[in-house]
Amino acid sequence: MNNNNSVRPKLLIENLSKSYWVNNDELKALQDINLTILNGEFVAIVGSSGCGKSTLLKIIAGLENGYKGTVLLGNEKISGPGLDRGMVFQEHRLLPWLTVEKNITFGIKDKKSKVTATTVSEHLDLVGLSGFANAYPFQLSGGMAQRVSIARALVNQPELLLFDEPFGSLDALTKIQMQKEVLRIWEAEKTTMILVTHDIDEAIFLGDRVVVMSSRPGTIRKIIPIDLLRPRDRSSYEFTQIRKAIYHEFFTEAEEPFSYAI
Ligand SMILES: Nc1ncnc2c1ncn2[C@@H]1O[C@H](COP(=O)(O)OP(=O)(O)O)[C@@H](O)[C@H]1O
Ligand SMILES: [Mg+2]
Repeated sequence: MNNNNSVRPKLLIENLSKSYWVNNDELKALQDINLTILNGEFVAIVGSSGCGKSTLLKIIAGLENGYKGTVLLGNEKISGPGLDRGMVFQEHRLLPWLTVEKNITFGIKDKKSKVTATTVSEHLDLVGLSGFANAYPFQLSGGMAQRVSIARALVNQPELLLFDEPFGSLDALTKIQMQKEVLRIWEAEKTTMILVTHDIDEAIFLGDRVVVMSSRPGTIRKIIPIDLLRPRDRSSYEFTQIRKAIYHEFFTEAEEPFSYAI
């Protein structure tokens, strides 16, 4: 944890369940999720495809209604999207006809927003894209486009930054570089971050805690604190032991014999 204020809960989730209705059949996406996230904490959530990770993030982002349970940001019930939460998706979602700067400011119509050309430029510096304000998305690599979406999510100085498998479509080396960048940004900005990923190494590299979800309906199987100093060495004995423990959680659920040859 990276600041002294960290004992204050930032997000409180109690008995959260969410179902979708498909052709009159109930599809239980999430069941009885309980999770408290502290101010300044970095929480990584891992789970297999379809276990409800994106549903959970969308509920926190205020993009999904009709759930049971309590979701509080600070002391406020989340009732819709807001500038206090930023989100980064797997695909960068930049508009091709707008420059980087316009992409970052597009959609900010809220009068409370304090975003100016200076804050945009500061955030481009923060993500390592100084001088790219007037570039168009087609002039950027995949990693650079994802940096722009991080800058766009951070520019309103949100209380919470939500990542939904943000590096899933990047090549392996760019992905590792971006993970280091996110760590640097988290340490600099002290924003509370929630990262959803199916990449177990990414979760251990970044998280203060790793939340392991079961397959659908998504429940929390285990929460594993990662008490390793940063930056973390993926080949260290301690890292490897945590990786084994998390793989074990997945594969005991599937009740399949599993070899630890990883
Ligand atoms: N809008 C929707 N309508 C119906 N079913 C949905 C909807 N969104 C997600 N689901 C279903 O809910 C489950 C969880 O989805 P999701 O949260 O996207 O999983 P994950 O992000 O872990 O892959 C899946 O079975 C998915 O098909
Ligand atoms: Mg998803």
